[in-house]
Amino acid sequence: MRLEGFNMALIAWLFLASFASAENLDTRLATAITTLEPRVIEWRRDLHQNPELSNREFRTSKVVADHLKRLGLEVQTGIAKTGIVGVLKGGKPGPTIALRADMDALPVVEQTDVPFRSRVTTTYRNQTVGVMHACGHDVHTSVLMGLAEAFVSMRADLPGTVIFLFQPAEEGAPEGEEGGASLMIEEGVLQRHRPEAVFGLHVFANMPTGLIGYRGGPLMAGSDTFRIVVKGKQTHGARPWVGIDPIVVSSQIVGALQTVVSRQTDITLNPAVVTVGAIKGGVRFNIVPDDVEMLGTIRTFDPQQRSMVIKNIDRMVTNIAEASGATATFEIQPGSNPVVRNDPMLTERVLPSLRKAAGANSVRAVPLVTGAEDFAFFAEKVPSFFFFVGVTPRDQNMLTAASNHSPLFYVDETAIPIASRAFGQLALDYLVAGAAGEPAVQSSR
Ligand code: NI
Repeated sequence: MRLEGFNMALIAWLFLASFASAENLDTRLATAITTLEPRVIEWRRDLHQNPELSNREFRTSKVVADHLKRLGLEVQTGIAKTGIVGVLKGGKPGPTIALRADMDALPVVEQTDVPFRSRVTTTYRNQTVGVMHACGHDVHTSVLMGLAEAFVSMRADLPGTVIFLFQPAEEGAPEGEEGGASLMIEEGVLQRHRPEAVFGLHVFANMPTGLIGYRGGPLMAGSDTFRIVVKGKQTHGARPWVGIDPIVVSSQIVGALQTVVSRQTDITLNPAVVTVGAIKGGVRFNIVPDDVEMLGTIRTFDPQQRSMVIKNIDRMVTNIAEASGATATFEIQPGSNPVVRNDPMLTERVLPSLRKAAGANSVRAVPLVTGAEDFAFFAEKVPSFFFFVGVTPRDQNMLTAASNHSPLFYVDETAIPIASRAFGQLALDYLVAGAAGEPAVQSSR
């Protein structure tokens, strides 16, 4: 009896001690984030003023690597061209997780009036273009740099290992190049470090500052770019019967493609989008050209649905062309992204952390997003969770505020510490729970 009582007391004490120390780690994380906030904002403004396109993140990559080295992390550079991996081993045993931030900017001329706006120009596809962090990756990078420093300040008491993934080329590698999350994986980052979960975030315009958006299961669409070439037979515009008009065939194809989603896809299971965004053919009003090229995008939320949509487009393109005596090819271009899929069990596990960090009223389930994100490649391999942080000031109209990728994209910087707290808290809670014996989430695919 005595022994049992002693055991009970010991268990209670251990429980309270671990609870107290977790509580204590929470406070230390929050304090570190508050202390670091001015520097995170400074880093963000510096990156914003010095944006670099995909696979050209040379300066950004050096800023990140220098910072991680100064913190004493084990740092690998040149991953997937300009990517950086930092490894922080905590002083206590625990699981290994990865936190990912993307670093690239877009070929957009910035039109905001912030004092640190970008005036950078570069050459992209043989054109001189402006460069702008129009998708907020400057925020992701600086937030993760801050978290690295916050976790280092708790290192001795931190359970487990945190892998910091600073990823290039999320927006897609330039033509003819590889890059991004898929190349990091190909180069072995996941095999080398074996994280049992990967986490990432994205700042989102048209969502009020500080609101956290999440969704279990599919979150963002898989994307495919397609190219259709219709081959006809050149002739005088006044004598079309002598040739085969690829412009008429192309317009029939564009019309018919509208039925791939509306008539051939079970939209009660998942939505889908098929868009033709470019048509090129012909040079003069009275010459029927030889061929027409069309470019477009497909968005789907399920691999089976994706194959079906692709098969249906291919069939329609080929047969419509054939019906007019033309020929047509349909090709999926390199650079497809899979669906960003949040592991449902992992989502359940991190929700309390997000609520703790941002307040329960600020954490909301969001609808599917038809935009794509190459974080999807990590989520394909390892149970993952990706979430959004609103950055549009609350007094603006959420429907009309400039969206991500706009020259007027604007980040309300008061969202930055909220992003840091949410990202940091879910990582910390995962590590603490893992150290206390909670098993890894098995991929519930
Ligand atoms: Ni982005």
